[in-house]
Amino acid sequence: MSSCSLVIFGATGDLVRRLLLPALYNLAATDLLPARCTLVGVARERLSGEAFRRSLADALRLHLAGPPDQRVMRRLLGSVRYVIGDIDSPRTYGQLASALMSIEDHGEVSADRLFYLALPPMMFATVATHLAAFGLTAERERAGWRRVIVEKPFGVSVDSAHALNQELTDVLEPHQIYRIDHYLGKASVQNIQTLRFGNGIFEPLWSRDYVDNVQITVAETVTVERRGRFYDATGALRDMVPNHLFQLLAAVAMEPPARLDAASVHAAKTTLFDAVRPASANDPRHDIVRGQYRSGSVGDASIVAYRDTPDVDAASTTETYVALRLRVATPRWADVPFYLRTGKALSRARAEVAITFRRSPTMMFPDEQAQRLEANVLVLEVAPEEGVGLRLNAKSADPLRAVDSVDMRFDYRDYFDAFRAVGYEKLIHDCMVGDATLFQSAAMVEAAWRAVAPFVDAAGTEPSFYAAGTEGPPEADTLTKPDGRRWRPITEGDAR
Ligand code: BG6
Repeated sequence: MSSCSLVIFGATGDLVRRLLLPALYNLAATDLLPARCTLVGVARERLSGEAFRRSLADALRLHLAGPPDQRVMRRLLGSVRYVIGDIDSPRTYGQLASALMSIEDHGEVSADRLFYLALPPMMFATVATHLAAFGLTAERERAGWRRVIVEKPFGVSVDSAHALNQELTDVLEPHQIYRIDHYLGKASVQNIQTLRFGNGIFEPLWSRDYVDNVQITVAETVTVERRGRFYDATGALRDMVPNHLFQLLAAVAMEPPARLDAASVHAAKTTLFDAVRPASANDPRHDIVRGQYRSGSVGDASIVAYRDTPDVDAASTTETYVALRLRVATPRWADVPFYLRTGKALSRARAEVAITFRRSPTMMFPDEQAQRLEANVLVLEVAPEEGVGLRLNAKSADPLRAVDSVDMRFDYRDYFDAFRAVGYEKLIHDCMVGDATLFQSAAMVEAAWRAVAPFVDAAGTEPSFYAAGTEGPPEADTLTKPDGRRWRPITEGDAR
């Protein structure tokens, strides 16, 4: 029987405990992990194998949606291994090689290996180079596959992303590299493509002829928490836009790929990113607003100002909120404004894509009714609710009122009795079966950085400020107002 080793670098980190491990548990619970799958943790902490296993079990108890099933826990954690070591030290890879040899019955079985680099990006190339030097990623005939998942952020600019692509492809074959963006693991994000291309009614409307504007929002109530060091050097634009927000943008705005396979989908997204421009061709300074939160309260929790966060510079100008106005220079989208925004410590957690359609000609309605007619809005809800909403105008049941706005909603929970997936399940599974469609290609990440570069260059140094628990800096309105549009409120209800 073949075996599969899942080697996780940065195994004691937060990402593994909060997200990867619960995802692996969910895969094990639904029989989607190979029968002989061994988890191998690599990290610096001096832990015994048993202590490592116990810490994973504790993390599962803490982070799973419900109490863990003992049988699944045993299956997932029963044969866990732990390698203590510095990622810079060749010794670590020697030890890893021995651990893999013993799992793989000294080369007697076909053994697949997935290396997951849950590490800061500056370590990706080091690890890949050592793995290759020790022969751990070589794909020999009948030896099984070797694949490497790298986390985001993939570079911080076009040049750094290009250099990282180069360093990785120096030691790995392109088909072995899986650049993850966990947004692509969310069913509601994958659903954008299904909704567009799997239904006859939407695609004919999906263009400048019918669409008035598109707004992509990823609003978070969380603060930067304990990630001050990483975040202060990164900011909201680099942390969220060329990856998560752009993946939402691509799903909505790309041209239909010839096939739903990796090569065609990657090409369609890359072409789309190449077509992204700041909306004001001459002066992109008018197309970006950066904000930073001051103290305030989100719900009942009082929030300290970003500048007072541990590991953040007390005079930091890093943005915790960013809003962009862009256009997609393709015949389909010419003139349609796309507004993107994301921020932390906002009034409400909400990730969505809202497509506002052009208004109907309302001249046959009396004036006071015509004023009540709203534009139709199709809302693709990504979080916390997952589903689709459509805002319509309808005849009110009130005899004295002619029209009112109503919402039609599809909620995932009403139809699919899925477990609460954390979003990494599908991606880990797809990597194991060799399907890279929901990952990012080298060209795609470089095109995304190229597309955000004019915004980065145009951004001033001083951010606008907003109180934690609000909708972000009021200056964000300067992006929509000149176009006669408005941001959708973050705080209010569904498709509104
Ligand atoms: C991460 C960012 O990639 O995505 C975080 O680094 C952000 O800053 C997170 O909070 C958001 O992911 P989700 O799935 O919670 O929306």
